[in-house]
Order: sequence, then C-alpha cells, then structure tokens
Amino acid sequence: MTTPTVPVVAHTRDELKAAREALPSRDVAVVMTMGALHDGHARLIRAARQRHDHVVVTIFLNPLQFGPKEDLSRYPRTFDADMEICTDAGVDVVFAPTPDVVYPDGDPGVRVSAGPLGDLLEGKARPGHFDGVLTVVGKLLHLTAARSAYFGQKDAQQMLLIRRMVRDLDFPVDVVSVPTVREADGLAMSSRNTYLTASDREVALCLSRALRAGGEAAVFGPSAVRRAAREVLVEEPLALVDYLVLVHPETLADVPEWYRGEALLAVAAKIGTTRLIDNTPLVVGPGGGAIDVFTDVPHARADV
Ligand code: PAF
Repeated sequence: MTTPTVPVVAHTRDELKAAREALPSRDVAVVMTMGALHDGHARLIRAARQRHDHVVVTIFLNPLQFGPKEDLSRYPRTFDADMEICTDAGVDVVFAPTPDVVYPDGDPGVRVSAGPLGDLLEGKARPGHFDGVLTVVGKLLHLTAARSAYFGQKDAQQMLLIRRMVRDLDFPVDVVSVPTVREADGLAMSSRNTYLTASDREVALCLSRALRAGGEAAVFGPSAVRRAAREVLVEEPLALVDYLVLVHPETLADVPEWYRGEALLAVAAKIGTTRLIDNTPLVVGPGGGAIDVFTDVPHARADV
C-alpha cells in the first residue's frame, strides 16, 4: 500500500497560485470548508476526487457569515486533524488563509446579495448570513479557479443560493450537491455536533427521526408529511424547534396541499446551546418518499 501524499498547504494568494499552477492538469475541483472536518467533508472530497484530476480544499472560518451573537470564537479549530483527513482523502492543495488574506481591506464594502431567498429559513434566524456565505464562496471560486465545486445537501438553502449565484452571475463552474452523511443513529454530520453533550446528542436524534417519519408519509401528501414530522418533534420538548417546513426545493415556498413532486422537508432547532439544521429531499405523492440525490448542476452558459 502506498503512503498518501500530504497536500501542499497554501496560506497566501501567491502560494495558492503557485500550488495551483504546479498541478499537472487544469481539471480542479474545490471543496470549501470552515475546518473541523468530518466524514461528511471526506465524502465531498472523495466525490470530487473520483471525477477530477485534482482537489483543492479551502479551510477558512469566514467571519462575514457569523452574526455578532454567533459562535465564531468557539467554532472548533482542528487544523492537524483536518490535514489528516485531507491527506487520506487524496487532496492536492489545502488553502488555509487568514481573514486578512481573504479580506485585505477589512470588511468588504461590496458583497454578493443573496436576495429574498436569503431572508427565509436560516436567513430569518441569521440576518446577513447568506450574503457573507456567497461573498466568500464567490471569492474562493475566483481564487481557486476551480472547474467544479462540491457542497453538502445538509446545507440545502446554502446549496440553492450558491447554485443561484453561479447561474445569475455567470460563474464558469459546475456546482455538485452531495447527499448528507449521517452517523449510524441518523444524526447528520456537522462540525457543530462537537458542542453537543451526551444528553443533547440523544435529544438531537429527534431531528432525523422527524425527517424519516415525514419521508415515510410522503405518499399521502404535504399535510401528512408535516403532521408525521411534527408528531415526532413534539415528543421531544428539549428540542426548541425554530422551523419545520415542507417547501419547494427551488423557491423555498411552502408547498400547498395539492402539490405533488419534489419538495424539501427542513428543520432547525436549538438543542442545549447549539442550533442544528437538517433536511431531506423527498417526492410528495404516489410512489413518493425520501430521496438521497447526487445532483450535478452545470453552469448556465456552456460557452463561458
Ligand atoms: O458550509 C460551509 O462550511 C461554509 O458556509 C462555506 C461554504 C465553506 C463558506 O464559508
């Protein structure tokens, strides 16, 4: 068995450019992260690795997407462990800049606006969050010059907004959505799971149970989905539910009772001190149920 090669680490723009130019092929995919990597990230990297000659991982805790009362200062920082995961998964380059490298003039005056979709669901709870996400994703797409970018379905609204940005602003990149990776007991993998105490973790399982129950009721229509999921959540009073919605996957609008087709069942709740989100894409109506999809979304203009 050959020992995996440790990725080149770039901290500055020049180092990234040099590392990028040293790669034998231009067929590069990027996996963007804020560090604290887990098996969900490893799956993104492996998916990218299978389809592209090279993979760049970015590790950047983006201050722009955290509100003043959010967990930026306590967010887990695990660079050495992250490097091990990147090495095992076959990453070529790790770009780990500091905020002054990404934002040399301080907070950028010009930002990408997520528009009205960015004010719904997570955006309602976290004002400005998606503008911060899209701004850094746009910058990292330019800096890495990747052909494809891989994101997890776990952050479904983020995924939708990134796809919109790429289409609306003509970024020459394919965006690939990779299904959520779950622990054996159903908990969706997240860097924030490290905040959970053992008892919080037990409570948190109600989220995936609710999504599963919703998926099982999908054949009976939207109200059956919502009812089944809600029934699971009300059994767990320690989960402070922010929202439980069944929405259209492109508009995030609540689907009406007559609706049949693809939908997104999404939940957010505070468990202890930690806000968790989870979702499942599903098909509502005859033959319906939860779907675990791997969606390639090519950039809008083939001639870019
Ligand atoms: O999903 C994340 O980890 C972050 O929002 C991202 C896409 C790396 C941007 O900072």
